[in-house]
Amino acid sequence: MTDNIQAIRGMHDILPEHSGRWQGVEQAIRRVLPAYGYQEIRLPIVEKTELFKRSIGEVTDIVEKEMYTFEDRNGDSLTLRPEGTAGCLRACLEHGLLHYPSHRLWYLGPMFRHERPQKGRYRQFHQMGVEAYGMAGPDIDAELILLSRRLWKELGVEHKLELQLNTLGTLEERHRYREELVEYFRGHYEKLDEDSQRRLEGNPLRILDSKNPDLYELIAAAPVLHDYLGEESRAHFDGLKRALDDAGLNYSLNPRLVRGLDYYSKTVFEWVTTELGAQGTVCAGGRYDGLIAQLGGKASHAVGFALGMERLIDLIDQPERYDALQTPHAYFIKVGEEAERAGALLAERLRDALPGLRLAVNCGGGNFKAQFKRADRSGAPIALILGGDEARDQLIGVKRLREEVPQQTLKQSELISYLQSLI
Ligand code: HAM
Repeated sequence: MTDNIQAIRGMHDILPEHSGRWQGVEQAIRRVLPAYGYQEIRLPIVEKTELFKRSIGEVTDIVEKEMYTFEDRNGDSLTLRPEGTAGCLRACLEHGLLHYPSHRLWYLGPMFRHERPQKGRYRQFHQMGVEAYGMAGPDIDAELILLSRRLWKELGVEHKLELQLNTLGTLEERHRYREELVEYFRGHYEKLDEDSQRRLEGNPLRILDSKNPDLYELIAAAPVLHDYLGEESRAHFDGLKRALDDAGLNYSLNPRLVRGLDYYSKTVFEWVTTELGAQGTVCAGGRYDGLIAQLGGKASHAVGFALGMERLIDLIDQPERYDALQTPHAYFIKVGEEAERAGALLAERLRDALPGLRLAVNCGGGNFKAQFKRADRSGAPIALILGGDEARDQLIGVKRLREEVPQQTLKQSELISYLQSLI
């Protein structure tokens, strides 16, 4: 006997019984994003490895240890995208989209990171990402945050998420700060854990993000970036806070929020929850003005975020309400040769007349009992029943499968208005 082949650890099937909740969230996304003028962009899943090294940063967890990188048959080094920002910008530069003054884009799809799988952390996961190019002021940062709040409202999860906000300043300001920080940590080198010692030269800001409780005291006493910010960075941050205050949006300032990707400058933010255990960041992003020039474009402005679909879906109350999006409205039972032929035509007429009707028609024959069983298993609330007699007399049986009410017989001509009430 051969073993069954199983899915890869950390990569999950989304089965039909749960795909309705994914569709529900996707529909909300497709309502909210256009309301702010954002357009969808669809991007390849595989990119040149170099793209991620240059954008996310060589000394980041993602690039150092989490990428699915392989050589293709031409000997090129390729990588399954660990995130969408780099690919989106690559596409915009390649197709000259950034020649227009501004762009608002969004994308949705699988991302890949070789992390240790646990609840809320997967090796294939899905992000909806939003990127806005060419806009310098804090108004666009605020817009991104407001549109994410609108999405939380649509999905009924607003009360479970808290916005954390920080600014990282410009690259120059951060460089100055970084030097001070390295000096500080170097003075306490022996207290650092191995990871932090390694980060000290390559990416010292990430030490601030350490989850090791032994380091909390040391980190708390470290120099604070805000003391190194220039006038313009402060004004930008103040402008953003003012816009959020005007919109009545609560946030907490978290000076330790640095993010795990190197490309950020100025605004960074995360929407976090306490309801999902250790993986509580549902949505995260910020401004990354420097990246466009870093990838070979003309210096401009960029800001965006990405949300984790799995985490967002886990946060929804009663996700079952969305799963019904997949369930047929009706299951069509047809028994006998005459009913089989007439039923197939009637089903097509119903679909013509009722766009949006989800009608599953029994295929593969079977007696009434067998077909009723399938109808029941389909989850449909009603069965339409066509036997030889009904077919001959232009009638149809209608049975409510989830309620204790007697079966009815309708004229086929009445069926459309009957079904209309179900859609
Ligand atoms: P990120 O913080 O790496 O940012 O990921 C964004 C979100 O993706 C996280 O907050 C989380 O919800 C979800 N996520 C990340 N890794 C996993 C995982 N292994 N399993 C499940 N969910 C995960 C970015 O990716 C940036 N590209 C965001 C951005 C867009 N910044 C500017 N524009």
